[in-house]
Amino acid sequence: MDLFSLKGKTVAVTGASSGFGSHFAGVLSDAGARVVLGARRMDKISARVESLNAAGGEAVGIELDVTAPDSCAGFLAEAEKQFGQVDVLINNAGVEAGAKTYAMIDEDDWDHVLDTNLKAAWRLSKMYTEAVAKSKQGSGNIINIASITAFRTIKGQFPYAVSKAALVKATEIIALEGARYGIRANALAPGYILTDVSRVLLESERSDSFVKSIPMRRYGEFEDLNGPLLLLASDASAYMTGSVIVVDGGHLCAELG
Ligand SMILES: NC(=O)c1ccc[n+]([C@@H]2O[C@H](COP(=O)([O-])OP(=O)(O)OC[C@H]3O[C@@H](n4cnc5c(N)ncnc54)[C@H](OP(=O)(O)O)[C@@H]3O)[C@@H](O)[C@H]2O)c1
Repeated sequence: MDLFSLKGKTVAVTGASSGFGSHFAGVLSDAGARVVLGARRMDKISARVESLNAAGGEAVGIELDVTAPDSCAGFLAEAEKQFGQVDVLINNAGVEAGAKTYAMIDEDDWDHVLDTNLKAAWRLSKMYTEAVAKSKQGSGNIINIASITAFRTIKGQFPYAVSKAALVKATEIIALEGARYGIRANALAPGYILTDVSRVLLESERSDSFVKSIPMRRYGEFEDLNGPLLLLASDASAYMTGSVIVVDGGHLCAELG
């Protein structure tokens, strides 16, 4: 397990007030990391921080709106002030526009989803790179939370899937250009994972057909992401950059038809 240890490392997670981000904070803390949780809903962040610290972890919460440049700069600066250089930045904050086609979305849907899922990941990665370049340590690690919608073509997820496909390309380019700063960048691309948000769709009357399209015949659970997350966050992935780890029960390998 030492291979995947995060002892002595500081990890900053965006969108940590619910869902994956809140879960990731616990997994990272259990692996020994000091964890910085950021999101807009500070009541949820504070409760999660309290539970992590009560369990023996070292966590802090910082208010963050990833669509606001000043808020992003403040988040990274405060994280560094609290826990020293951020060793791993996880761009997890994400939103969707509901079940809409390209013909249904409007300008606001486009801006809201692209600004949060894509532009903010670039913005935070750029700010983080500037901090790493100035640091003594001279290395960093970025993990972007993508989605299998980046690869599979589905109806009714227009701005979301476009943002995630672009996030995968952004990850590859950051890996290529970030290597000179000692920065690695990889992406995690979950498939259908049961969360409070996805449960509404995945447990609807369409559930049977969704499950049948997954070779492993089940949805993913939060815990299915733990191993891949720790691999990317730890030195176990020291020679990995520009990779995308798909965690989808084989969904992307499903037969056409
Ligand atoms: N659930 C799935 O099956 C699935 C599959 C593939 C990929 N993903 C990706 O996983 C990530 C997490 O999603 P989730 O399923 O865990 O959904 P979720 O529970 O709705 O979490 C989304 C998080 O993003 C934060 N967020 C949204 N806008 C923000 C902003 N402007 N500034 C800061 N934080 C913001 C939210 O916090 P606040 O509202 O408190 O700010 C919340 O903590 C997303 O990138 C999503 O696309 C999810």
